[in-house]
Amino acid sequence: MAHTAKSALSEPAIVDRNLTLEIVRVTENAAIAAAEWRGKGDEKSADRAAVEAMREELGKVTVAGRVVIGEGERDEAPMLYIGEEVGLGEGAKVDIAVDPLEGTTLCAKNQHDSLAVLAMAERGGLLHAPDVYMEKIAVGPGYEPGIVQLDRSITENVQAVAKARGVSAAEITVCVLDRPRHAKIIDELRELGASIKLINDGDIAGVIHTTDREETGIDIYVGTGGAPEGVLAAAALRCVGGQMQGRLVLDTQEKRERAARLGIEDPDRIYDVTDLASGDVLFAATGVTDGSMLDGVKIRPNYFETSTIVMRSWSKTVRWIDARHLRDK
Ligand code: FBP
Repeated sequence: MAHTAKSALSEPAIVDRNLTLEIVRVTENAAIAAAEWRGKGDEKSADRAAVEAMREELGKVTVAGRVVIGEGERDEAPMLYIGEEVGLGEGAKVDIAVDPLEGTTLCAKNQHDSLAVLAMAERGGLLHAPDVYMEKIAVGPGYEPGIVQLDRSITENVQAVAKARGVSAAEITVCVLDRPRHAKIIDELRELGASIKLINDGDIAGVIHTTDREETGIDIYVGTGGAPEGVLAAAALRCVGGQMQGRLVLDTQEKRERAARLGIEDPDRIYDVTDLASGDVLFAATGVTDGSMLDGVKIRPNYFETSTIVMRSWSKTVRWIDARHLRDK
């Protein structure tokens, strides 16, 4: 029974279980604020609305929080900047990664899968990733450790997953950001006959989709996207037992120095999912626009409806929370 299994676990580092619901309120608030800007072609206003709403709600959460992945350095972001202290200042000491509006362009164009996202971990649990690109590969739960690896070709990775699933490579679907930099990966996948799900933006959702392949049809996520998004995606995978590898793209001296200032000593290091997000991790994402795993915010005459996924690595509990919020409270 789940109860027996859970009681066999050691005490979690973050003991306050109510935090799960508290962080849901934070992503819900950001998603509702961003939803007002869906389809308005204004990325900046949508993002600003989400940031302000997330910041306000985060201020009410019972933690001594520190932003490690946020809107940028202190001098470039007025709110949710790296190093900002958030929360009530009491309770668990935690590190927080946020992307108040992941997929700003998706929101501005009212396309699928823009999200409000937050991850929380015990202090030191989240990689302090600079705002550079990261090469990523991810699969959902249920595979042997090391089934996909960045140092292997995409052909080898697809073949390994196909073998584990007992299907041919043609039955494997790989999610890739539609960018010219991925031409080689896409050519190789075409050659192999695998199916490709090309997405315009939003690689946190891309990675999360691998965790529920029956629902989303996606087996593997591969490609280069934002490093902060890589840490947030890893936090989600930690909660469901998926696997991921990431390598920062530090292709200039300036980027290497920026990374070094954040404590990154080896610029070529390949990070596993637990290097990106370790210890006790909580993750929440609320849909802004509709997507394959979450509905977007529904704006009704008197209330908003939100759809959120919230999970925790310690218990591996995954909750889908649909909520109704009175408008003009
Ligand atoms: P924003 O929400 O900041 O617009 O990021 C969207 C996104 O698609 C991320 O999901 C992804 O990691 C990154 O942009 C890819 O960067 P680029 O658009 O430069 O290829």
